[in-house]
Amino acid sequence: MRQHVNPLSKHFNEIERIPSLIEMFEHAKSPLHLDIGCAAGHFLFDLALVNTSWNYLGIEIRERLVKNAQLKLREREIKNLYFVFGNAYKILNDVQNDFFLKNVKSISFNFPDPWFKKRHYKRRVVQPEFIKILSNSLQKGSYIFIKTDVKDLFNYMDCTISSNFNFKSIDKKDFNYSASFNPKEVQTNREKYVKGNQIDIFDRIYMKI
Ligand SMILES: C[S@@+](CC[C@H](N)C(=O)[O-])C[C@H]1O[C@@H](n2cnc3c(N)ncnc32)[C@H](O)[C@@H]1O
Repeated sequence: MRQHVNPLSKHFNEIERIPSLIEMFEHAKSPLHLDIGCAAGHFLFDLALVNTSWNYLGIEIRERLVKNAQLKLREREIKNLYFVFGNAYKILNDVQNDFFLKNVKSISFNFPDPWFKKRHYKRRVVQPEFIKILSNSLQKGSYIFIKTDVKDLFNYMDCTISSNFNFKSIDKKDFNYSASFNPKEVQTNREKYVKGNQIDIFDRIYMKI
């Protein structure tokens, strides 16, 4: 089993600048989805290939995975996908990346690291300060998607996001998946594993109001 990366380590203090939309994508005006903790990016490669009218950006804290994904991206000449290395909170909290969240239509946190011990909860990626940044910068009508197979982590994320009055949870039956970043309901690697083993999944969608 892999060791989780401690996002609070000073190793991640250096912040990568997110390039402008024109530098990253062929069609800079396409709707933009951000996947946080995208690992090797398999999910985003699948999405980018089937939904060419969307742009996708993945942020991942394991540098080797990001380097490999960037290499694969160049080889395949995919023009609606981009990867950034680092701690997502620090990257999005950085003033040089201020422009970015204003352009994001939706964000996914898929199966984030659970950090089971209470003293490690602060290493979880969904934190009140992070949600505050999202709530200050995202446009009204933008979405956050959370998904996990760890009930306790789900409750923690749900409580953190719901405590911010700028987000309201959406009833899934009222949500128009066909217009979303993932109309074909592509699954992440972890999701495929969890579904294959008939483990429960907990998920929720929130809209910025
Ligand atoms: C359990 S994996 C899930 C990967 C993928 N989303 C999936 O569903 O298969 C969680 C990923 O989030 C990354 N991660 C954890 N904390 C992060 C942070 N603060 N910023 C960016 N990535 C992070 C981890 O390195 C890991 O690749």
